[in-house]
Order: sequence, then structure tokens, then C-alpha cells
Amino acid sequence: MAIDTIRWTGDAVRIIDQTLLPNELVYLDCKDVKTLWDAIKTLKVRGAPALGIAAAYGVVLGIKDYKGTDTPKFVKHVCDLCDYIGKSRPTAVNLFNALAQMRGLVLYNPDKPVQILKAVLEAEANAIFEEDRAVCRSMGKHGASLIKNGMTCMTVCNAGALATADYGTALGVFYAAKEAGKKFRVFALETRPLLQGARLTAWELQKNKIDVTLICDNMAASVMRNIGIDLIFAGADRIASNGDAANKIGTYMLGVLAKHHKVPFYIVAPKTTFDLKIKTGKDIPIEERSPEEVTHFGLRPTAPKGIKVFNPAFDVTPNELIAGIVTEYGIIRKLDAKNIRNVLTK
Ligand code: MRU
Repeated sequence: MAIDTIRWTGDAVRIIDQTLLPNELVYLDCKDVKTLWDAIKTLKVRGAPALGIAAAYGVVLGIKDYKGTDTPKFVKHVCDLCDYIGKSRPTAVNLFNALAQMRGLVLYNPDKPVQILKAVLEAEANAIFEEDRAVCRSMGKHGASLIKNGMTCMTVCNAGALATADYGTALGVFYAAKEAGKKFRVFALETRPLLQGARLTAWELQKNKIDVTLICDNMAASVMRNIGIDLIFAGADRIASNGDAANKIGTYMLGVLAKHHKVPFYIVAPKTTFDLKIKTGKDIPIEERSPEEVTHFGLRPTAPKGIKVFNPAFDVTPNELIAGIVTEYGIIRKLDAKNIRNVLTK
């Protein structure tokens, strides 16, 4: 998978500027935390696991030039950085889980010299990056076992290489199935309003020679009825204890359609996307984004000036619509708090 979505260069967080895809493949070096924060906010880097990695490296970026030697002051500096990065986007819990890991390291080591803490934080960010690479591969393997030759699958948004440090969650399933020699095709929803499906998923699947067909979101029902879909795979930004899963707006719609058309609907997500502190999807904070994303198509206005707009970036698919959650530990089919916790903590 030759897509280098995010990496630490030693003095910058290098990302692909995803707002320019599929027309241009441009790398952006974020050399200060504000630039990285803006990149997260504007979706230059996006997708839950990539946001976790960006947050961790954001802390490394913010301590890189720290000159002081007083540990309590350094601890406060790290905590302030975590608070700041945590205000970029609210829904993907990977971002907060990574920040909690980084913050925890300094809070639980208040006696260590600053130089040591700096090295430990950088090592932790690298470990978060490496772990994501490994879990993508495990999820891919487990998910690919569901795909049989000749099947037609569907996906929404982008849960691929552009959303992770490796080949993705939902799209990782397709890459693993292809590596296993299976023949199948994929329908990708364009994913209004910001077109992650059209701009990103279609781009990376095509680049990797997966048989992909792009459709508008409002074609999903008709494709299920008239062409036939065997399996649906979507990523997630935050999964509650009971398996309710928040993902890109439109995912819940697919879950409802899947039930009507009797298509198994799977969420593919690593342990870092679970939020076991919350009971159900009702507690998941849903990001609302600017009205211009809905009233404009690119820069072109497509709605009357002054129109009221509602623009939630995510929705929650309730557990009863989900056939299973594909994790690095295997496929969790019984979606209740006890079973999910057992699988994730065994
Ligand atoms: O707003 P985005 O593009 O960050 O939304 C991304 C998604 O909804 C993805 O499906 C999710 O983060 C999973 S990525 C493996």
C-alpha cells in the first residue's frame, strides 16, 4: 500500500493534504501545532485512526522546541497541548484516546527529567503509529474471511489508507480480500457533503486496482434492490459500550437500507475507536460543520443565500442494525456491553 498518509519526519508532521485529492497529491509539512490543528479541522488529515496518530504527533510537535527543565511546568505544557488539540474535532474518539495516552505518560511520571519525558512521548507516538499499522492488517484478515468470490460490496466515506497509517479499516477488508485472490466488486457512495467517497475512496481503490463503481448517496437503495449487494463495510469514529457506532453521516441510512434488503452490515474498527466510558450512541458527541459545506459544491453556491442549514458530520447506527464489528481481535457479533468489553480486554 504505497499511500503515505501521515508520518513524523523528525521536525514536522507530514500529511497528504486530502482536500486536494483526487486532482493533486500534495504533501504538507505541519511544523507547528496550530498548522496541524487547522489541518485536522479542515480535513486535510482525517479519518479516526489517522486523527489519533495526528494528535499524538501533535504533542511531539508541541514539545520539540521546549527548552525548560522544570518537570511540573513541562507536565502543564503537555496537558495544555492535549486540551488544545482535543478542541479540533469532537467525534473520533481515537484522537482523545491518543491524547489520554500521551497525557497519562507525563502525569504518571512526575519525577522524570524533561529530556527523558520528551523521548518517552515521541516513542509513544511512534508506538501508536506502528500499532495502527498492525491492527489494520488483522482487521483486514478477519473481514476478508466474509468476502466470497463474485460478491458485490458497498462502502461509505473513506475508511482506507487515507484514514490510517496502513491500508485502512473497511477498505483494508477489500485489500486483504484482493491479496487473498478473491474476485469481488465494490460500490462506493460519494458521501455528501465533502465527498470523501468520491474524492478519496474511489481514488485509492482505483489506484489499487479494486473493481470500484462510484454512486451518489441517494442511489444506494436502488442499487441494493436492482443490482444486489452482498455485504456492506463501514468504518467508525466512536463506538459506545453497547456497539452503537458513529460514522460519517449517511452510514445509519445504509444500516436501515441493509436491514430492509437483508444485507449484512459490518462496522470495521480497532479497539482505539471504542469508547467504553459511554453506554450508548446517544452519548456520542456529533460534530456539526459549517453551512457552506451544504450550500456550496466546491466554491459554487448551490442553494439560496441565507437558507437554514443543518450539517451534522456523523450519525449513529444502532447496534441492532449491525451484523458484527470487525476488530483486530476478530468479529464481534454479539453486540452487548459485557461481550464487547470481554473481547476487547481479554
Ligand atoms: O469527517 P471524516 O472524513 O474524518 O470522517 C471519517 C469517517 O467517517 C470514517 O469512516 C471513520 O473515521 C473511520 S476511518 C478508518
